[in-house]
Amino acid sequence: MAPRTLLVANWKMNLGIAESVSLARAIAEGCSGLAQTEIWLAPSFTALAAVKESLSSTPVKVGAQNAHWADSGAFTGEVSVPMLKECGATFAIVGHSERRHILGESDLLVVKRAAAVAASGMQCIFCVGEKLEERERGLTSMVLQRQLIALLDGIDRKLLPNIILAYEPVWAIGTGKAAEVEDIASAHAELASIWMSTGHQQSAPRILYGGSVSPENFHTFVHLPSVGGALVGGASLVAEKFTELAKISEQQQ
Ligand code: PGA
Repeated sequence: MAPRTLLVANWKMNLGIAESVSLARAIAEGCSGLAQTEIWLAPSFTALAAVKESLSSTPVKVGAQNAHWADSGAFTGEVSVPMLKECGATFAIVGHSERRHILGESDLLVVKRAAAVAASGMQCIFCVGEKLEERERGLTSMVLQRQLIALLDGIDRKLLPNIILAYEPVWAIGTGKAAEVEDIASAHAELASIWMSTGHQQSAPRILYGGSVSPENFHTFVHLPSVGGALVGGASLVAEKFTELAKISEQQQ
């Protein structure tokens, strides 16, 4: 049986190759012997191969923070799925709020990325979440529906086992203010219900929560049945904090 909790480190545009390798090693060491928790790391593209190499004798997996849908071609600045696989990536994060809202990636574009990642056999962590003004206007549910239905409409249903959802309210990312347990529970229930109501899914989706996850707040929601783990930014850059999250996860089983 797959471990119950998945902890994904999103290092964003931080750390060079040597720093990434050293953090990866410290995390792998601190997280050795876990029974119910999987550890996945998403370093920068430039550090991916070296981090993978440094983790070869551990169960820790590595992946990318984005991926293009074409295998090759005139797409300056992009990185393709075969290139990522060659570096040892087994997953890619797609549709992160920083891609959607700072780099302007649309629902349509992120779905193309997700479909290519899933079709390659890699796991795709597909991020959704509302902005603060959308939340304040009572539009959370509408935004989640729009983002998830775009995915469900744009991807072959056979690929859905390769999709992991991440609910990341934009207002909680990097702000130090994680969502309350009630908000997480209701957003995850909403996503699971949209997923199932499309009529052809066999099983409920795995859904991670992301947004200011820390050792101080993780225990408040890790036990929820609808929470399959966490996508962690800031706290994943400090080996002790990320290791502490893994310990909290193990204690909840
Ligand atoms: P944060 O980032 O944990 O620093 O809020 C999470 C994310 O952006 O995935």
